Amino acid sequence: MNHIDLNNRCAIVTGGAQGIGRAIAERFVASGARVALWDYDLATAEKTAKEIGDAAVAVQVDVTDPVAVDKARDATLAAFSKIDILVNNAGIAGVNKTVWETDYAEWQRVLKLNLDGPFICCKSIVPAMIAHKYGRIVNIASIAGKEGNPNAAHYSASKAGVIALTKSLGKELASYDIVANAVTPAAARTAIFDQMTQQHIDFMLSKIPKGRFVLVEEVAALVAWLASEDCAFSTGAVFDISGGRATY
Ligand SMILES: NC(=O)c1ccc[n+]([C@@H]2O[C@H](COP(=O)([O-])OP(=O)(O)OC[C@H]3O[C@@H](n4cnc5c(N)ncnc54)[C@H](O)[C@@H]3O)[C@@H](O)[C@H]2O)c1
Repeated sequence: MNHIDLNNRCAIVTGGAQGIGRAIAERFVASGARVALWDYDLATAEKTAKEIGDAAVAVQVDVTDPVAVDKARDATLAAFSKIDILVNNAGIAGVNKTVWETDYAEWQRVLKLNLDGPFICCKSIVPAMIAHKYGRIVNIASIAGKEGNPNAAHYSASKAGVIALTKSLGKELASYDIVANAVTPAAARTAIFDQMTQQHIDFMLSKIPKGRFVLVEEVAALVAWLASEDCAFSTGAVFDISGGRATY
């Protein structure tokens, strides 16, 4: 493992209780940071925080609720005194159906968490970063946001939205020492697979030239660099980690 210096950095990882978020939190702590695991699922977040150690704390929050997010921000600031890093990771796959079979309520459910969630968290936390004159924001998008997966229009559209949100935010923050970038992973075997049909999982694997799913640790390694001081010039950018699938 390469050494990435996150000493004295304080981070929030939304959806940090498990999967990609947990791997990011573990990598951050291994790099010297303190991490708040912001998750809807408090029991799993607390268990994970305990397993990671003293540098991790669990905070229960629904990232789609602006009032709850402001409360969680204040609690995190009270605990850490600053927020250097925000990783918008919490997300769902939604039900795999064609556009015409998808219920409007299901479309809204996916967009609300995957796109409104990062907006709400950025809106709440960026002012604290501006006041503190430092920040690193990493938004977890998906290769689906670049390519549009069949039977996942809600998910693909939400992740395309996250990419555009990142591009706008990066420009807005360009005069500060605050960068905002997105990553676009291929599929990783996590609990999110439980929401998908086997046909959809097989489709995603068939599209990856490397012929395997990305490991959560591989995503975490990229995110750790994007969350570090070294990543000071790249902003509003999209970092591919799709095993060769992305062509742009
Ligand atoms: N696993 C993949 O194949 C894959 C590929 C590309 C991108 N991604 C993206 O990576 C991110 C993490 O995915 P994962 O596979 O680790 O998922 P996961 O299902 O393993 O974990 C998601 C976490 O988000 C939490 N969460 C759900 N709703 C929430 C809410 N309203 N507020 C706060 N927390 C909430 C869950 O409790 C859970 O701990 C998602 O944004 C996903 O779209 C995943």
